Amino acid sequence: MPTRERKDVYQLPAGDTTLEWYAKAVAKMRTRPATDPTSWSYQAAIHGFNKVNPYWGNVGTLPPPGQQTEYWKQCQHGSWYFLPWHRMYLAYFEQIVAKTIVDLGGPPGWSLPFWNYSDTNNPKATHLPPAFIAGTPATNPLQMPPAGHIPGRKNNAVHPKDVTLGALKTLIFQGAPSGIPAGFGGPVTGFSPSGSTHGDLESKPHDLVHVDIGGAMGNPQTAGLDPIFYLHHANIDRLWQVWLNMGHARHNPKDTAWLNFAFDFHDATGTPKVLKVSEVLDTTKVLGNGYSYQGVPASAPVTSEAMFASKLFSAAPGDLDDGMPPEVAAATNTSLSLDKSNSTTSLQLLSSNRKTGSLHRFNTALPGLAGAGSSTNTAHSYLNFENIIGKGIPPVYDIYLNLPDENKADEAHFAGALPFFGVETASSKDSHHNGSGQHYVFDISDVVNSLRENNHWDPQKLQVHLRPREAPEPGCSVEIGRISLYVK
Ligand code: C2O
Repeated sequence: MPTRERKDVYQLPAGDTTLEWYAKAVAKMRTRPATDPTSWSYQAAIHGFNKVNPYWGNVGTLPPPGQQTEYWKQCQHGSWYFLPWHRMYLAYFEQIVAKTIVDLGGPPGWSLPFWNYSDTNNPKATHLPPAFIAGTPATNPLQMPPAGHIPGRKNNAVHPKDVTLGALKTLIFQGAPSGIPAGFGGPVTGFSPSGSTHGDLESKPHDLVHVDIGGAMGNPQTAGLDPIFYLHHANIDRLWQVWLNMGHARHNPKDTAWLNFAFDFHDATGTPKVLKVSEVLDTTKVLGNGYSYQGVPASAPVTSEAMFASKLFSAAPGDLDDGMPPEVAAATNTSLSLDKSNSTTSLQLLSSNRKTGSLHRFNTALPGLAGAGSSTNTAHSYLNFENIIGKGIPPVYDIYLNLPDENKADEAHFAGALPFFGVETASSKDSHHNGSGQHYVFDISDVVNSLRENNHWDPQKLQVHLRPREAPEPGCSVEIGRISLYVK
């Protein structure tokens, strides 16, 4: 069988039945008991599960605890396993849907479509594909059913600001174990469902798309219950290949710790399977005949010579690892609880001798040297949000730096957005988490540089403004342990 193509959901030709059959399969899988690995509940629980969460209200009989420990709540977040784990998860999910469709009398070879919310050629791109909002949850299996009075989703579109693809600029896949920088694919960790710093692609667009849609999608414990989840992740998986194809030293880790790491799943016949990361790096070979993405060549891996050459000639200064760990140059000295109000926090510059070098670079090295094509600027600055703990699904908070008027959001000072996706899971101690919360890091070099160039930057002042997009829902809370500035 030839490699299947995963298609752009917005480019499915008229009369295409991909989504029709997806809907039928979802409905069928929802009728299977949670003890059946091919059921909708079981598939969603592989990602996350919490039986007291209202969306899980009617789950029924559960698999034995030992099986739950091995196969459920496995999602890898804040880790360099984020991309390969979700690729494996999707591959088995797709196989299960495809078999369900054949068993229902449908065509063979079903492939998961992807939702490209970043497509600037498609004015509707940021909206959920119409098939997912048509009808009602009772008539359309592609809707997310409500839990009592709680709607299945909060929004039918994502914020255009949340789907820009700055992450593709990051050249290194694996982030530092400290999370600074976080890397394209996430920091080096062991098995880590949500404890460490979220990688660049994971923070944006991945996490923001989750919380923008909200409802079940807003929480890793319930996200897999929403049929749109899998189209969102097909897109994230596609962006991994897009990133590799951009070249210029971009490549997957070569560390055996990563390549040999294995995860447990069930296939479409309900048989236990183990997959290693190294087995899913070529999409055209995943689970045998594999897949490719519409519009994205599944290119051959780059040779190490080509990699070396492109590293020498094309890397942006400061992006390659020169072996110097970033140093903390400024930080808050108390934790910060967020609520419905805009808040402003000042970071205190730390001036111990060891830090003077990096702080000096932060304060002086950038103006004039930071223009496009500059090869002498090596300063990079990272705004780091540490040990974020919380409850429920907090709103997105936009981050601004040194606003001239703190009551007015000025986009020239915009530094990123905090999604807090999975903050509740990361805050609770259980078998998979130590409860120390989550971490987000933002490379603020570009915004600081452009403010400096326009003389809108006061190096003596380092204020971080956090502005909630909406009022938090009752019962939700979020607290940031520390905000720090790292300089390299
Ligand atoms: Cu494991 Cu989109 O989440």
